[in-house]
Amino acid sequence: MSTVHEAIELSDRYLVQTYGRPDFALVRGEGAYLYDSTGKQYLDMVSGIAVNTFGYGDKALQTAIQEAATGLIHTSNLYHSLPGAKLAEALVQNSFADRVFFSNSGTEAVEGALKFARKAATQHHHGKQGFVSFTFGFHGRTMGALSTTANPKYRKPFGALTGPVAFAEFNNLENAEAVIDDNTAAVIVEPIQGEGGMMPATDAFLKKLRDLCDDHGATLIFDEVQCGVGRTGTLWAYEPSGVTPDIMVVAKPLGGGFPIGAILVTEAIAGMIGIGDHGSTFAGGPFITQIALHQLERVNQPDFLAHVREIGDYLESKLTELADAEAIVETIRGRGLMRGIQIAETLPVADLLPIAHDHGLLLVGAGRNTIRLLPPLIIEKRHVDELIETLTAVLAEAQAV
Ligand SMILES: Cc1ncc(COP(=O)(O)O)c(C=O)c1O
Repeated sequence: MSTVHEAIELSDRYLVQTYGRPDFALVRGEGAYLYDSTGKQYLDMVSGIAVNTFGYGDKALQTAIQEAATGLIHTSNLYHSLPGAKLAEALVQNSFADRVFFSNSGTEAVEGALKFARKAATQHHHGKQGFVSFTFGFHGRTMGALSTTANPKYRKPFGALTGPVAFAEFNNLENAEAVIDDNTAAVIVEPIQGEGGMMPATDAFLKKLRDLCDDHGATLIFDEVQCGVGRTGTLWAYEPSGVTPDIMVVAKPLGGGFPIGAILVTEAIAGMIGIGDHGSTFAGGPFITQIALHQLERVNQPDFLAHVREIGDYLESKLTELADAEAIVETIRGRGLMRGIQIAETLPVADLLPIAHDHGLLLVGAGRNTIRLLPPLIIEKRHVDELIETLTAVLAEAQAV
């Protein structure tokens, strides 16, 4: 039986069916390209959903993994261990934060952030509990993170979630002012929304949230799980706004493909958290944190971030040309190498993906009508040119159907 048939048969038989997958199996990769079991090549504009910063077969990352594997893999958080402490130091030295708590995923980092914010709120009268998040925001699939994820499609089937949560309109200053009040323990926001359609928060909006949180004694949480660690051309997406949060969650690309998340906090928040308040068996282990430190140090090189900005600008100019040429393209959004192409309602992105696959292009959607571009950050102008050429053909074929 071929690899792809075996993969499909076993997946259909044994996996809980939460993903609709195309009928090919990826078996290897090189640079910005992935290959399926028949040898077909795909230009990767997904990078494992904003994870594979250096693409595939990256020699330096492979060496870092091999070196980390010769040391301790896991010791638990019961004991001191140097790699995790060094990663925390690097995160603190390169952000607003004073301290770090590690997790194993984005959603788990959000859970911890919400817990920390609730604990911080105990300093207020009655220990207020309310969370505020925003329309089109996405914060993960576990119960707490899910409760702050606006789209009812994700929340509704699962009954009572963590409350109370109020949803305010993203980028609407007046609405934020109306919703955030003295009962708000925390406000959680993505500086650039990913799942919701690659929508950047305006600087004025982030500033307003900072002011409202200060006025009402609420904790401001930035969710940089998707937009952080270099994706937008600065190490953190919040940087150009000049606004800093009390807590920030990061994950996806931090571990170079291994699962790790981090909750970055100010000293004021850390001071509210005591021994035993939170924990995790696996999080921040020596193996994974050594790899994450390699990842962070490489991404945080000025030349590397300048490359992301340069190729991101080039991508923006080419997408603008595409939008001018193709009536089906309504708007383009995003920053750096995190871009969204909104197409007309008449053409659901889900219908477009199989055609893109036929043309050797991996894409992912955001919402119903946005194509999400999250390429490996090592792509060059030639990859952008290839993307535009293929996408033009894909859009033409999709409209002809
Ligand atoms: C902004 C944001 N927050 C949180 C999450 C959840 O991360 P994970 O899938 O690692 O649990 C995601 C995942 O897509 C995300 O995009």
